[in-house]
Amino acid sequence: MSTKQRVFSGVQPTGEMHIGTYLGAFRNWVRLQDEYDTIYCIVDQHAITLPQDPDDLRRNRIAGAKVLLATGIDPERALVYAQSYVPQHAELSWLLGVMTPMGVLNRMTQYKDRLAQGHAANLGLFSYPVLMAADILIHRANLVPVGDDQKQHLEMTRDLAERFNNRYGDIFPIPEPLIPETAARVMSLADPTSKMSKSDENVRSRVGIVDPPDVVVKRIKSAMTDSEPTVRYDPEHKAGISNLLEIMSAATGRSIDDLVAEFGDSGYGTFKLAVADALVDLLTPIRERYNELDDGDIVKVLADGAERAEAQAEHYMREVRTAIGLNKL
Ligand code: TRP
Repeated sequence: MSTKQRVFSGVQPTGEMHIGTYLGAFRNWVRLQDEYDTIYCIVDQHAITLPQDPDDLRRNRIAGAKVLLATGIDPERALVYAQSYVPQHAELSWLLGVMTPMGVLNRMTQYKDRLAQGHAANLGLFSYPVLMAADILIHRANLVPVGDDQKQHLEMTRDLAERFNNRYGDIFPIPEPLIPETAARVMSLADPTSKMSKSDENVRSRVGIVDPPDVVVKRIKSAMTDSEPTVRYDPEHKAGISNLLEIMSAATGRSIDDLVAEFGDSGYGTFKLAVADALVDLLTPIRERYNELDDGDIVKVLADGAERAEAQAEHYMREVRTAIGLNKL
């Protein structure tokens, strides 16, 4: 077995993947393949904690995997599969659930946000972080690339792993967060005080990873800004322009200072076109690869990945069942 540290992360197959997810996560996932034993999971069982149309779910699972591959995730190096194909995730989630205090889950901010958004509470939405802990621990992952919004869940995962180990012996490594130096935090184009989100009903709030150039240009042109004409970085007073600066900096690798020096007085119209151009350059190779990939091949990648993931998960689960006293005699 490989001696590399193991990385696990997951993405929900819901709706269109946007540049916030690429610049904040996938781009980093691609780099991690060089150094680590990487596992990237399409977490469809998490997705159904909110209602999903079955056909959309099937379609989004394929499309999500296709985007991952198009960005440079290589199934020869990374393990790519769908959570629902590997029943050990749900099994371990149950075993961890009996060790999870209600009070801890009650404090999860994502759960509270969902309720505040008007979603009906259900047991799955409540225990969402337990399934996430199972995803990570089932593979004994050491490192988990996550954004700010998932840190609390990872903290809970660490606590669960420790509790389990204290009770049953040293079974799970305690996973560490992996916060990339380069992850961009991309905000909504329509409301730059909130994060770019695929669940936002306003499609003008985002740019899709595989959007064609004309759409990219249109979305960036219509991005909300302010009426003071200088391009400068001031997230508090100029959230829209600052977001565009972040996006362009992430897309080009140029510093914000450098961009401000060039575009400070050029006017918003010119600046926006430059941002759109930079994004088109970044996204074009990804979109081209996406269009070349065949759904049938993706189905095969997911099936092969699930087979390998299940073999690994089952190997570890035997030890877990035995530790708890649930192994077949
Ligand atoms: N909850 C994560 C999100 O919405 C997705 C996820 C599920 C995940 N399981 C995971 C991320 C395990 C990291 C590790 O972004």
